[in-house]
Amino acid sequence: MKKIITIISEKVSQAFAACGYDAAYGAVSVSNRPDLCQYQCNGALTAAKQFHKAPIVIAEEIAAALSGEDLFSLCEAVKPGFINISLNTAFLARYVYEMSRSEKFGMEPAGEPQTIVVDYGGPNVAKALHVGHLRPAIIGEAVKRILRYAGNEVIGDAHLGDWGLQIGLIITELRVRQPELPYFDESFAGEYPKEPPFTMSDLEEIYPYASEYSKTHEDYKEAARHATYLLQNGHRGYRALWEHIMTVSMNDLKKNYKKLNVEFDLWKKESDAQPYIPEMIQKMKDEGHAHISEGALVVDVKEESDTKEIPPCMILKSDGATLYNTTDLATIVERMKLFSPNQIIYVVDKRQSLYFEQIFRCARKTHLVNEDTKLTFLGFGTMNGRDGKPFKTRDGGVMRLEQLVQSIVDEVYEKMKDRDMPEEEIRRVAGQVGLAALKYGDLSNQASKDYIFDVERFTSFEGNTGPYILYTMVRIKSILGRLDGAEASMPEPSKRSYGTEETNWLLTLSRFADTVERAAAELAPHKLCQYIYELANVFNSFYHGNKILTEADEAKKAEWIGLLQTTLAVLQTCIDLLAFEAPDRM
Ligand code: ARG
Repeated sequence: MKKIITIISEKVSQAFAACGYDAAYGAVSVSNRPDLCQYQCNGALTAAKQFHKAPIVIAEEIAAALSGEDLFSLCEAVKPGFINISLNTAFLARYVYEMSRSEKFGMEPAGEPQTIVVDYGGPNVAKALHVGHLRPAIIGEAVKRILRYAGNEVIGDAHLGDWGLQIGLIITELRVRQPELPYFDESFAGEYPKEPPFTMSDLEEIYPYASEYSKTHEDYKEAARHATYLLQNGHRGYRALWEHIMTVSMNDLKKNYKKLNVEFDLWKKESDAQPYIPEMIQKMKDEGHAHISEGALVVDVKEESDTKEIPPCMILKSDGATLYNTTDLATIVERMKLFSPNQIIYVVDKRQSLYFEQIFRCARKTHLVNEDTKLTFLGFGTMNGRDGKPFKTRDGGVMRLEQLVQSIVDEVYEKMKDRDMPEEEIRRVAGQVGLAALKYGDLSNQASKDYIFDVERFTSFEGNTGPYILYTMVRIKSILGRLDGAEASMPEPSKRSYGTEETNWLLTLSRFADTVERAAAELAPHKLCQYIYELANVFNSFYHGNKILTEADEAKKAEWIGLLQTTLAVLQTCIDLLAFEAPDRM
């Protein structure tokens, strides 16, 4: 099924061609003056330059050529040379009718499905998830689902940080606390215990402690570095401890991501890329890309056109140790080998943008990827507190993600606790609504922008919020629930007149496919949020102005019910893509 904007563009393009201009001038866009028209075409303004004519003259020719077109209720040239267009509502109604019956509401499968790896989440083992992990998880999850819905083969990878100094620090601290453990006995040749010598809460206490301590104790830090080195070079006892750390952390991480409705397809770890390192480095050296600078092995990545300094990409430190860079590059090698993706998207804090610029350039220069492999950095901004500074706990610490989610769920519970519903249901619904509030509050902002985490605003049942969207869905469910028996699917539109509210409702519904396509192309979940907000608004205006269930005209009533069902299904699809859920009542 064609997108509605394509149908309109084709019509207008035909008119341009018929009048002797290039058909490409006929591309239309959604009007930025919805008070005047629904769509607009600015092609006459550009054509005017080529044909040395006044734009308005061309616009008028086109409008005249389209005058008998029954698709349009309005097609008018306005100064200086715009063409304002509105659709016949009967056409819109027919389009929505067809859309409601088509798979994916008129969304066509991607022209050429791409294989795309989305690297998101980026948790580190042995550390509790904190607020800094919220954005990569929820933005990445939404981007993954949107790209998949658009017809691509998408692989979401958590890319677990399991290989760095944090593990060395934990090993070092364990050695201080429990020196008697067999992992530290170099002569121990037996089998190590199956049970980990710590719990997740132990780890959560050990890591920050060791990290702080190492900042003021150089010898301790050195020991941690050495432990990391030994681990990476196959020390038997440390490997066994690392396995324990992995098992304990993974359970905890999986549980926490599940609560956030975030599902990775892959739980690859930084350590998984290690086997690819030696060959990668050899190749970089052989091909003359890597050279020694101040003892370290680096690849120059600056380019003539740079306006700012782009430092070389370091591959090995002077002591031969690998770095975050080395792992990311080797991960690219691994991904190319396992999936030969067309694109890899990194959903990471935007403060790492220079780092990824170096990585991407290095990967291209050293041919780790194909010429046409796209490497995309989707950098997100910071979640700030009400003071405009990065969000902290009351005492200035880093807030755990669980705590953050709980705070918003509690706020929703407070609002709902007097509802006439069983306590158990109130709790469950508060959980769903709270998560929606949090996710929508985040996703409705353009990812790259910082935003302010405002519990009160996010949990409001009115305005541009998650709960408002859910509330609208619940309202539709409740209307549909009051109908006796299951309604058949949407009936064919009858010949009749339409009010403004219904026209707006149809118009917004008809834009679904175009919106999702754009959200996918621009990796922009906020476009989907804008869309569902608009859809909720146009529906609610209609609802307040019309009595659906008592409508006397049966044909009309049946169509409205069809629209309700379609709207609910579209909203449901959108919130699935954004990865939150709606309750049946709230
Ligand atoms: N674990 C990293 C961190 O905590 C984020 C990983 C981002 N992804 C990547 N491929 N480097 O900062």
